[in-house]
Amino acid sequence: MGAGRGNKLGSVPSSPTIRAARGVRDILPPERWRWRQVESAAHELARRYGFEELETPIIEPAELIERGVGEGSDAGGKELYRLLSQGRSQASLVLRPEATAGVMRAYHEGHLDLGPQPQRLYSLGSMFRHDRPQAGRYRQFHQFNVEVLGSNAAAIDAELIEMGWEWLHGLGLNGLRMELNSIGDETCRPAYLVLLRSYYRPLKERLCADCQRRLEDNPLRLLDCKRPECREQSGGAPRIIDHLCSPCQESIAEVRRLLEAAGIPYRLEPTLVRGLDYYTRTVFEYQLDSLDGAQSALGGGGRYDGLAKALGFPDTAGSGFAMGLERIVLSLPPGPAPAPAIELLVLPAEGVEAEAAARLTRLARTRVAAAADHSPRSLKAKMRSAARSGARWVAMVDPAEASAGRVRLRRMDSGEQSELSWEEMVEVLG
Ligand code: HAM
Repeated sequence: MGAGRGNKLGSVPSSPTIRAARGVRDILPPERWRWRQVESAAHELARRYGFEELETPIIEPAELIERGVGEGSDAGGKELYRLLSQGRSQASLVLRPEATAGVMRAYHEGHLDLGPQPQRLYSLGSMFRHDRPQAGRYRQFHQFNVEVLGSNAAAIDAELIEMGWEWLHGLGLNGLRMELNSIGDETCRPAYLVLLRSYYRPLKERLCADCQRRLEDNPLRLLDCKRPECREQSGGAPRIIDHLCSPCQESIAEVRRLLEAAGIPYRLEPTLVRGLDYYTRTVFEYQLDSLDGAQSALGGGGRYDGLAKALGFPDTAGSGFAMGLERIVLSLPPGPAPAPAIELLVLPAEGVEAEAAARLTRLARTRVAAAADHSPRSLKAKMRSAARSGARWVAMVDPAEASAGRVRLRRMDSGEQSELSWEEMVEVLG
């Protein structure tokens, strides 16, 4: 404790003001109320599509993320939060940067693979990526994550895309776009990557430093680099959609047919490749025009039939998406203000026992959201504070009233006031 100050209640803190860590943010009550609406819509959507909720830990073994998301990817590599190990096990742990690898682990570890297939699973929770913070990009952020495990049907991809689209639309977001691509599988992708490398090699000097590095170990990512110098080159690159094997061709054709039949608008985007290593075949992203360039993706996903094997589990097909809640809440049209949290405030006058005020509040709480103002202020000051709180009612009580079981109940909007017994107050409140 600096210079002996700041260790007693009420003393002046001697150190600089403590602030939230860089790249994370508080969600304060008025905003949290909007989050609650978005989350409720997510639960409701999931229920209607027959999904069950699960929760996986925020902490996962490093190996799960490195093998699943890919050490070479940003989220599974340089942006990974690593925990300093403690204790004897020396386990290497990380904060999860995304949920899919953890859901795949939980599916096998929890024997969901023995249940009816496919399993439709969803979760809401925090993810962590140590990226450079900016508007719409945080180091702790939240996702609505949706996965279908145990089916390789293209129809599942279409169902998921429709589900995400319906949710975003239902939230009232305008200017939505959906981009779709196929990035092939282990049969057709290797030959395409050879083509892609030979296209880019002569252009290497014109690419950004990151892409020069990616050229050999992750050339697909060159296609979606947002830097102008790289975008200039990606236009002429061979398109993977033109180099798919026939099962992959059939799969994307089926997804497109189903989306068209469902009336979901989409744009085939040959440079869409996604940033995580586990995808095969279908990939998609939801974009919002009004969001800034690199942060314009509200969500995205795709099929990941190779993930289970990469993690050492029995072969399991999977497909899913995740939505970024920060970006969605930021983009919502203005809505109604939240209702005040306290509907009735009990205002005990000086001399009223705290226990009596608590009893009166407890009674009020059987009908409305109620709290008591226990501060040692004058009744006038308490009334001013009650008006600011937006409470619909106040219940004033002095010591004589408290012992007689009486109360003055006032409607704050009309100023109408009546003197009642406590039981009568409960009746009036409804
Ligand atoms: P992702 O594209 O990495 O996919 O993330 C999904 C969404 O999370 C993004 O579109 C964005 O809205 C939000 N997001 C990502 N990083 C940040 C950040 N630093 N700050 C704020 N929002 C962010 C996945 O995570 C995959 N696991 C999705 C998936 C599920 N694929 C199959 N199943």
